[in-house]
Amino acid sequence: MFEVKEYSGQREKDYSLVLQQLQALIEDDTDEISVLANSSALLNQFLDNINWVGFYLWKKDELVLGPFQGLPACTRIAFGKGVCGSALAEKKTLLVPNVHEFPGHIVCDAASQSEIVVPMFIGGQAYGVLDIDSPILERFDEIDQQYLEQFVEILINHLATIN
Ligand code: SME
Repeated sequence: MFEVKEYSGQREKDYSLVLQQLQALIEDDTDEISVLANSSALLNQFLDNINWVGFYLWKKDELVLGPFQGLPACTRIAFGKGVCGSALAEKKTLLVPNVHEFPGHIVCDAASQSEIVVPMFIGGQAYGVLDIDSPILERFDEIDQQYLEQFVEILINHLATIN
């Protein structure tokens, strides 16, 4: 059973704990969907002020909705489109303080105001993205970016062994 932790409120300490929780949660799991579903649930119970967290997976030639927590969302995103497709195309994390100012932002939940998208690659091949939306402006900063990139790295290292 997953044990809900009391987080301390010190962000770096708490993110480090979440990374440990992630490792423990997925290490014996050899199913991709199950790993991604639990990873989104882990982030959802940890992060405050978010309204959507989940994955889009690269399938053939587009991003397709994967495991997530939040309202039903758009199911397909083209390469280079929206924040998700742009992060994948640019091969870098996109921190968007105000989604209304991001050209081509794709609205899935009208409540979303800010967003962070971390692209995922396995052995140089596009795998997908981790996408997190917030109902408040400027929700995400460099600390979130740093730890969410580590979160994705742990995930990718594990997924590479089961894919
Ligand atoms: N806003 C994203 C689309 C996905 S939803 O936020 C869940 C984008 O512009 O790519």
